[in-house]
Amino acid sequence: MKKLILTTLLASSILLASSGKELTKQNGCMECHNIMGKKAAPAFMGTAKKNLKWYGDEAKANIIKGIKSGSKGKYRQFSDTEMPAYSNISESDLDTIASWILSEFQKMKSQKMSQGQKISGQRKSRP
Ligand code: HEC
Repeated sequence: MKKLILTTLLASSILLASSGKELTKQNGCMECHNIMGKKAAPAFMGTAKKNLKWYGDEAKANIIKGIKSGSKGKYRQFSDTEMPAYSNISESDLDTIASWILSEFQKMKSQKMSQGQKISGQRKSRP
């Protein structure tokens, strides 16, 4: 039973990763955004970080709102470009995209933390 639950969890997180990414490709988001690193628009990882900082538990809802209604002026560096409103994307697809952005951010954060531990471990072993 435990195995089944684990397998289901694993399968759904893989599905989330592929379909969230696919959806951003299909909808042309990657014309302006990167997952990591700036383009014409803030990196998805940057939007996750900011929204978590600004809204905490409401981060996902606000990311969804930003995609659905568009956004302008929140990220000062990108004031030349506007986030268009995507009112045509279904609620469930919006949810998939927002969950994917946030889960990629958590993944990146935990990877960074384990890399940081390695680096400080190496430093310690130096004479
Ligand atoms: C024409 C370029 C462009 C396209 C295409 C675009 N974006 Fe954006 N996006 C932006 C800009 C510019 C901002 C920053 C807006 C601001 O400063 O308020 C932004 C902001 C965002 C934010 C942060 C919103 C917030 O409130 O913090 C998210 C999330 C986002 N975009 C997701 C998407 C997704 C998902 C798609 C595709 C469905 C998409 N974007 C397509 C330019 C774009």
